[in-house]
Amino acid sequence: MARPAVVCALPPDELKLVASGLREAGFEVLEAGPADGFDALLRERRDIGLAVIDGETDFNASLELYSNLHDDGRDVPTLMVLSQRAFERLNASQQADDTTEYFTRPYSAESLRWRVEAMLIRAQTFDDGSGPILAAGELDPRALARRAMIVAVFNPKGGVGKTTLATNLAATLQMKRHQRVLLIDADTVTGHIATSLGLEQVETVADAWEQDHTLAQGLAGVATSHANGLRVAVLAARPMQTESIDPQRLADHLSGSKLGFDALIIDLHPDYGPLNLAIFERCDRILVPVTPDIPAIRAAVQFFEIAGDLGIRDRISMVVNRANSGVSVDDMERTTGMPALGTIRSGGFLFVRAANEGTTVVERFPREKVTEDFERLADRLLQREAPMASRAAERGLFGFLGRQREPIRA
Ligand SMILES: Nc1ncnc2c1ncn2[C@@H]1O[C@H](COP(=O)(O)OP(=O)(O)O)[C@@H](O)[C@H]1O
Ligand SMILES: [Mg+2]
Repeated sequence: MARPAVVCALPPDELKLVASGLREAGFEVLEAGPADGFDALLRERRDIGLAVIDGETDFNASLELYSNLHDDGRDVPTLMVLSQRAFERLNASQQADDTTEYFTRPYSAESLRWRVEAMLIRAQTFDDGSGPILAAGELDPRALARRAMIVAVFNPKGGVGKTTLATNLAATLQMKRHQRVLLIDADTVTGHIATSLGLEQVETVADAWEQDHTLAQGLAGVATSHANGLRVAVLAARPMQTESIDPQRLADHLSGSKLGFDALIIDLHPDYGPLNLAIFERCDRILVPVTPDIPAIRAAVQFFEIAGDLGIRDRISMVVNRANSGVSVDDMERTTGMPALGTIRSGGFLFVRAANEGTTVVERFPREKVTEDFERLADRLLQREAPMASRAAERGLFGFLGRQREPIRA
């Protein structure tokens, strides 16, 4: 199996030695050029497992490289090389974060190579609740380059489009934006993701735990592949099975499953039970589909209030569903307090037809406008397109610097 590529940004003499040591060990070494090109390189090459960068010679350049390695949903493990003095000045004896480590000069190319190996091994471990364990099986080197963003889809009201949004967004990210997506059906009561995708008789996480399987490969270990490349994991097939889902264990598995994917999309059941609270706590984003009707808007307002108590408001974005009904997005933002990430128009019977064929609207009806809505939403989630709010700010609707307005009722 190919070893991951290692990006190096070091002074020329040092680079020569380090690169030849790493190449001998079988790594492909990529030299980081000017920052613009570097960003493009990171986007294009998903097999970059680690970066070695100079942490002191040109501080601004290092900072920019470092940002590129950690922005945009990326989290490339980084080894920062600096002198002992600079290291002490940094007071960096504590780690900056999980994936950044320091290496002090002077050093030998061989010692650096071993540190690189160790970091790559650490990047492959995850904690399933029993302490760090090494992911089993051969690991795709691309898995090291990026860790998934965890996106929960939630609204405490049923019928607003949670499952529709989760499924079609996941398919868009997987098929049209070439992300590796794990779609998780956490609605153990009304959930029907697997059947709507035509997947029958899937093994569930609850089945695996009842049989004492440890899920060494995280949730991917029980995931079923759909023809469109999506991987789908179902927590439980029967409502009564829900009891065997330990919320904390599941939350740890979510974090553990970030390794091999770019996005984890979770469809939640509409309640405030311990499973959902554990998922809220672990996720990066909560998408709240809201239809322009009073019951759905009220449910969203209620959730926004609770989210304040839970300290997770900054993760929330609204997705206005069935948006072409005359109610303005601005009004819905003002009423719910939630910034809108995007809008999905009504697709009429397209959703029913797609589900009957075991597929999604975005696959089955690629030229429909509603498919474009999902693509725009996916791009905003990936930050490839400006958020709606900043557009409104450009139009002067949001007041000074586009800062968020006070929600009316929150
Ligand atoms: N934008 C839309 N256009 C047309 N039908 C939709 C749209 N969004 C949802 N639906 C339909 O509304 C129903 C409820 O949606 P669903 O995603 O199951 O809601 P939830 O998961 O919140 O209970 C489904 O029949 C779905 O096909
Ligand atoms: Mg649902």
